[in-house]
Amino acid sequence: MLAACGPDTTTDSLGVVATVPSDGARHAADAPLRVRFDGYLAESISLASAARLESADVGIAVSVLYDPVEQGLVVLPARPLRVGLGYTLTVDASVVEGVDGRTLDEDLRLSFVAGNPTSAARGVPPPVRFADLQADLRAACGDCHGAPPGAYPPLTAAALVEAPSQRRPGAVLVVPGAPLQSELVRRVLVDYPGTLGAPMPPDAPLDVALQKRLVDWVRDGALP
Ligand code: HEC
Repeated sequence: MLAACGPDTTTDSLGVVATVPSDGARHAADAPLRVRFDGYLAESISLASAARLESADVGIAVSVLYDPVEQGLVVLPARPLRVGLGYTLTVDASVVEGVDGRTLDEDLRLSFVAGNPTSAARGVPPPVRFADLQADLRAACGDCHGAPPGAYPPLTAAALVEAPSQRRPGAVLVVPGAPLQSELVRRVLVDYPGTLGAPMPPDAPLDVALQKRLVDWVRDGALP
């Protein structure tokens, strides 16, 4: 479905729905920071400059990802933060822009104190492979996207990666590394603007955890 696009919605500003942590809270030193918006962000924004983290005016190295399922930025400090130290996360209003053109009224500033790391072992998880998803995808989509004569495409890595969309001219089903340029991802996101055809699956949204794994699979390079 396309979002309503009257004169009011375009002059509205982009809203922040939730942040982790909330302003002034303690936050586990090794946990990602999250900022959720009330709409999808434009694909073209520079994530690297969308958010910065500082402690006493000293910049901390972070990587910034976009999680389209949560409609939010995920900020991962390169190293665990120092427990007890104060930090400020700034989301830059001149960089962040919604897919509908809305922007933030002003920079978002979030101050927090790093708390004890979580006990769960962290570190970089191994990349998601298609083989890890296949059984769950078959269960969710397979009745329709099974072997021919089911609906195109069959849900195999070979049929999806770099394959043209039959529905949207010029679109590609899976662009490795680029979830939001991938028709497969746009179709399973709820109300992603500009998609043609029914959302997938047509009856009810895909389980959120599976949506995220699908996004991660594409972002991690769409490995077989
Ligand atoms: C009830 C049947 C049904 C289910 C379940 C279903 N699909 Fe579909 N799907 C279709 C049909 C029919 C089409 C072709 C018409 C269209 O493009 O909307 C399609 C089209 C698509 C396309 C577009 C292909 C293109 O060429 O652009 C993608 C991607 C897709 N489905 C993915 C999925 C995924 C992923 C799931 C499971 C999460 C799923 N579908 C579940 C019936 C279904």
